[in-house]
Amino acid sequence: MIDAVSFENNTLGYLDQRLLPLKEEYVRTKDYRQAIAAIKTLAVRGAPLIGIVAGYTVILGLKSYSGSKEEFPHYFGNLIEEVEASRPTAVNLFFATARMKEVYDAHFAADPLEELFAKMLVAARKIHTDEIANCDNMARHGAALIKQDLAETLKTRKLNVLTHCNTGTLATGGSGTALGVIKHAWKEGLIEKVITAESRPLLQGLRLTAWELEKENIPFISISDSSSAFLMQKGMIDFGIVGADRIAANGDTANKIGTFAHAVSASVYNVPYYIAAPVSTIDITINNGSQIPIEERSADELRTIFGTQVGTPTTPVLNYAFDVTPHQYIRGIVTDKKAVVGNYSEELKRLVD
Ligand code: MRU
Repeated sequence: MIDAVSFENNTLGYLDQRLLPLKEEYVRTKDYRQAIAAIKTLAVRGAPLIGIVAGYTVILGLKSYSGSKEEFPHYFGNLIEEVEASRPTAVNLFFATARMKEVYDAHFAADPLEELFAKMLVAARKIHTDEIANCDNMARHGAALIKQDLAETLKTRKLNVLTHCNTGTLATGGSGTALGVIKHAWKEGLIEKVITAESRPLLQGLRLTAWELEKENIPFISISDSSSAFLMQKGMIDFGIVGADRIAANGDTANKIGTFAHAVSASVYNVPYYIAAPVSTIDITINNGSQIPIEERSADELRTIFGTQVGTPTTPVLNYAFDVTPHQYIRGIVTDKKAVVGNYSEELKRLVD
């Protein structure tokens, strides 16, 4: 069992994902600034897991507070701001801080700080347990949709599925979003092989998804991101399924850079391409993908490969961490409540309400 994140005795525990698959190092900290740094540096990553860790990070921040009740609102405001500044794209982070603010708004006036903190811890734990349950629900809805959409192919053979980045236990604490669907479909005998795109530049597909699949004994093969169109042309991919960092009200979806390129190829070759994400990843407050803030990361993530300089230090670099796949390219969005196929503007709103 992979233990991606834990919170016991006021201590956050997490597997440092930067070191995987070569080293499994479990970090424990009571320092909320170290937890923020873990989110920033992708020691923990993946939209639902970022949300879970953000909730616990707020708790660590509360536990280190030693001032008066009068001074607390100022401290709390700064703490939330610091947590929210860690990564901009995954909406789950803001979903988690919003939950903490709701508890604060409802109970600050009446409760002593200790009681308020205890209620916030309950809320943080609920984000964690909800995301685990969400994964199981997505897995069922997703496998059912695939069975239905690809019924003709399934009459004669099992399916080869493309996925991008890492959307499994490491990204969610549960079985996963897209990878949870794949694991479930594998158990149901629908999957021949998983094709994991490496996911440049930090290689979440090659390092993390491969690591998870190996542990589960699910057959897989890793490819470079730029191979997917060729594999589709050769009929080697039956469907694609990826996760999401933020889904706009119209279904446009931000996910790891490279996701959109696979979607364009899939549309050329009529390969169904799905998104799997919990309802907590839907941002109904924005109309379309052009309004999703896209994180730009350091140039050195491209100019170096895991510490080795491969481009000159002065090479100009544009390093977007995510792209946006317009909803027209998405065959279906699998959520924990149900799988939605088309008509996203109405259906997603209904899910969030
Ligand atoms: O930069 P990362 O590794 O946090 O990006 C993660 C992704 O893009 C995932 O596909 C997404 O968060 C969905 S995780 C279930």
